[in-house]
Amino acid sequence: MQRFALQCFLMIAAVVVLGGCTADAQSIATLLRKIEVQQSSSTPSQATSTEATHALTPLTEEEIAQGVAAYRDAYCGVCHTLTIAGTRGEFAPNQDGMGLLAEMRLLDPAYTGNATTAADFIRESILDPTAFVEGAYQITHHPMPPFTHLPSEQVESIVQLLLHQREESAVPVP
Ligand code: HEC
Repeated sequence: MQRFALQCFLMIAAVVVLGGCTADAQSIATLLRKIEVQQSSSTPSQATSTEATHALTPLTEEEIAQGVAAYRDAYCGVCHTLTIAGTRGEFAPNQDGMGLLAEMRLLDPAYTGNATTAADFIRESILDPTAFVEGAYQITHHPMPPFTHLPSEQVESIVQLLLHQREESAVPVP
């Protein structure tokens, strides 16, 4: 009898887990398609636009190293997880998909800032974090402070590093 109960439990658990995964994968796919459609309609000369997803020039090893050093020096990782920088902060959104997440935020009708590109969005989030605070983080004990004291080269290295983080599984489902 106990064994039967256990089997039932495992089956229900499997259905819940599998069901959940499919829903997530589907909504991420829909969102990514939206981003693609938006980009192709708003940037007809995609090949020449550095902001378009497919035209992002990969960073050099040196740029990656600079970005990682800048990110770590500013202690972003106290709150954020960013695998490439080896940080595991848990008080703030994961940044392994920050390039995609930035594009998603711009499409969000609730977005309240002034950015029009993903790079602008990331820069704005660093210098003026209250321009847009994602719903889930509106009440937090660890709000993001503005990092206006950082030299602009450090900010730009971080912006470039984050813009190139495009891990789909790290992007939360809205
Ligand atoms: C004290 C914790 C804390 C630190 C330190 C911190 N952040 Fe944040 N960050 C947050 C929180 C909380 C949010 C989500 C609310 C918001 O958008 O302001 C956030 C949001 C962001 C966003 C927007 C993400 C999104 O999902 O829209 C970016 C980009 C960002 N942070 C970059 C950085 C960078 C780069 C640094 C280091 C220079 C940094 N953060 C340091 C707490 C922190």
